[in-house]
Amino acid sequence: MQFENSARLLERARKVIPGGINSNVRALWDPHPMFYQRGEGARVWDVDGNEYIDYVLGRGPALLGHSPKPVLDAVAEQLHKGLIYAGQTELEVEAAELVCKFTPCAERVRFTSSGSESVHAVLRLARSATGRLKILRFESAYHGWFDNIAWSGGCPLDRVGSRERPNILPSSEGQNPLDAQNLIVLPWNDLGLVEKVFAEQGDQIAAIITEPLMANNGAVQPKEGFLQGLRDICDKYGALLIFDEVITGFRLSLASGQGYYGVTPDLATFAKAIAGGMPVGAFAGKAQHMDRLGTLKTVHAGTYNAMPMMMAAVKAALLMLSADDAMLLKRAAATAEQLRQGFRAIARKMEMPVDVRGAGPIMHVSFLPPGSAPVVDSRTYAQTDAAKTRRLFRELQRRGIRSTPAGLMFVSTEHGEREIEQTLTAMEGALKAMMNAE
Ligand SMILES: Cc1ncc(COP(=O)(O)O)c(C=O)c1O
Repeated sequence: MQFENSARLLERARKVIPGGINSNVRALWDPHPMFYQRGEGARVWDVDGNEYIDYVLGRGPALLGHSPKPVLDAVAEQLHKGLIYAGQTELEVEAAELVCKFTPCAERVRFTSSGSESVHAVLRLARSATGRLKILRFESAYHGWFDNIAWSGGCPLDRVGSRERPNILPSSEGQNPLDAQNLIVLPWNDLGLVEKVFAEQGDQIAAIITEPLMANNGAVQPKEGFLQGLRDICDKYGALLIFDEVITGFRLSLASGQGYYGVTPDLATFAKAIAGGMPVGAFAGKAQHMDRLGTLKTVHAGTYNAMPMMMAAVKAALLMLSADDAMLLKRAAATAEQLRQGFRAIARKMEMPVDVRGAGPIMHVSFLPPGSAPVVDSRTYAQTDAAKTRRLFRELQRRGIRSTPAGLMFVSTEHGEREIEQTLTAMEGALKAMMNAE
């Protein structure tokens, strides 16, 4: 497989775009950041003409596959009626009605242009609603790149500190240490630690924020009772429970992670799958909290919020996802389950320590050295062999399978039998190549 055109474009890009990329995570690619020219259904093509079955899906948005026709048609129809008015449209009401219909916590919803903005809004709202400042977040969870929450994002084991009192580490140079003062960080999936922190400072905590399934750090499922436990603790201490459903939203089920796990948060954030690939975020929640925005005393604003074309995309995407009792979503989940089981069977047969996690159409494949504890949080996820997982990514890429280098894979509603077969064959070939190289 040749990447010459990509390499040439990268060289040109680096002269005008820092690193040649517009989002830092795109640097983490082999042999270098890649350039693409087309996506259709479950497949993408790079600028060298290489074809891939795509399990990156734009890091989640393309749940309906690349270029879903109903979404494109809805966007095209609106495109010719004007791009932006800075006023309301019937489309945004229709989109909001759909979000509220499908989402257990959503009595009200506001739209944004990204997940990071949505997280920013719910943190402000939680502080406004409770009159408290502290936010409890979990180690290594990713909730966007904004300064007030982007701490302890990817914690190396030698710097994380104790489980009871982890170090709060910046995710970037240039962050203000004062922003960390109102954050409490704990390892995920350990209710005892959360209870202890609330017993000590529950009257100062505005909210707990968590992904319902830790998608960004190994696709780790919540332990039985963990999410309900967080719900109970928040209720006991008058704090709000926030689910960051930027990845899980409209993906784990039509009712998102909160419906899938049966625990309703006070507020939730969305992006990615909500608009079939268009840049839309949203946050939703109970009227008593969300209506604070309606009083205009708690501020949420944005020039591009609820652009008509984007609202057309949300409406079309949610109608597709909800049609026939959410048949498309169920199909994507079933495809992912077949792949998870297939990967496990191949690894077992070849006696290779491959750990496959996830739920619904979210999967994570990594190498977990024999004897390691099961992956339940970011500390146990850190035991996985990242270098070996990355070698697997390279071998898969060589065989026309596009996953993220860390092993996170998203399945779309367009992946079918042909893709499953091709992917399992590629996985077997990739693992064999790795075994032969050892
Ligand atoms: C759980 C979660 N929250 C927030 C974000 C930030 O979303 P965005 O990249 O749209 O700003 C992401 C992005 O991947 C995410 O995965």
